[in-house]
Amino acid sequence: MSNDKALFCKVNKPEDVEPDSPVAKKHTPVITAPAVFKVGEFYDVKITVGEIEHPNENEHFIQWIEFYIGGVYLGRFDFAPVMTKPEITIPLKLSHRGLDSTLRAVSRCNLHGLWEGSVPVKAE
Ligand SMILES: [Fe+2]
Repeated sequence: MSNDKALFCKVNKPEDVEPDSPVAKKHTPVITAPAVFKVGEFYDVKITVGEIEHPNENEHFIQWIEFYIGGVYLGRFDFAPVMTKPEITIPLKLSHRGLDSTLRAVSRCNLHGLWEGSVPVKAE
C-alpha cells in the first residue's frame, strides 16, 4: 500500500491502493443515484464517504466533497469535524437526452488526501 505522502500526490481511487483495503473503504466517496434520469426531472443524489465509516475528529476528518458530472462542476460542500457528517443529498436534473456520463465525487481527508468515487448515469 502507498504511504501517506504518496496519497497527497494525486486523486486516489480504490484501484490505486488495494480496493478492499481499509484506507480505500474509508475514503472513497459512495454515490447513490438512479441509473437512468428522465430528462427535465430532479432526482436525489446522495453522497457519503466510505463503505466503512471514516473518523470524524478534530485531528482527522473529511474536509469537503466536490461533485461533478464528467468534468463539469456541480457543487462543493465543506464540513466541520465532529458536529457535521460528510453526507449530502442534492437534487440533480439532467437536460440532454442521450447523455451517457459519469457522476463523480471527490473528497478530501486532512490526513489521507483526495479520493474519487464514480457511478455511470444515463438521461432518457
Ligand atoms: Fe482519513
